[in-house]
Amino acid sequence: MGKKIIVAIDGFSSSGKSTMARELAKRVGYVYVDSGAMYRAVTLYAMRNGMVNTDGSIDEEKLVAALPEINITFQPAGADGVQHTLLNGEDVEKEIRSMEVSSLVSPVAVIPAVRERLVALQQGFGKEKGIVMDGRDIGTTVFPDAEMKVFVSASPEERARRRFLELKEKGVDAVYEEVLRNVEERDHIDTTREVSPLRKAADAIELDNGSLTPEQQMNWLMDKFQSIEKENI
Ligand code: DC
Repeated sequence: MGKKIIVAIDGFSSSGKSTMARELAKRVGYVYVDSGAMYRAVTLYAMRNGMVNTDGSIDEEKLVAALPEINITFQPAGADGVQHTLLNGEDVEKEIRSMEVSSLVSPVAVIPAVRERLVALQQGFGKEKGIVMDGRDIGTTVFPDAEMKVFVSASPEERARRRFLELKEKGVDAVYEEVLRNVEERDHIDTTREVSPLRKAADAIELDNGSLTPEQQMNWLMDKFQSIEKENI
């Protein structure tokens, strides 16, 4: 067996990358970090502290000034199998998944100082390697030297369908067209923003998961992982 590596998994929202990343980490005994949860936690902080203007824009100056006071950590999955995101020690896992946070997170994620702060925290989590991190800019900005990079794609309709079912399962009253619109809006902001836009790293392997079953995906991922880790001596 080789040395521990860093696995970067990037892709569009609701592409299924988090499920894959979490499962891979579990199978190989690595730490899993959901970087999107960190942007969501900062968004929740802004909402709670009056940093969202009435027109839905973010009070950037206030938020940037508060950044040193924002700390985000993770509590490893317990009996429920879910990793919990902690904002200054408080479990906010449920709140950060709300539609309100989902619709405000993209404008928060374009703020350069927010990205700088979170990228620094993320790089800290990866210091010891043995980590699987998913997001938008993990293979390009956070860990450009990651030994394994995966870029996950799937059509907006397929991703909206998935997100819609997920919300319904959680008992959230959602309309498919609205979910699709939210997915497309986020794609647009994520791919066109100036700082660290979502794009495939030149050395990332691409996975179109619209065409594979979850089991096929995991087999594909495990094969890649094992061959890359073995070579890393
Ligand atoms: O993966 P997600 O849907 O939970 O991500 C929430 C938002 O955070 C999404 O709009 C894009 C942003 N994000 C980002 O800009 N960079 C990352 N590494 C992860 C997420």
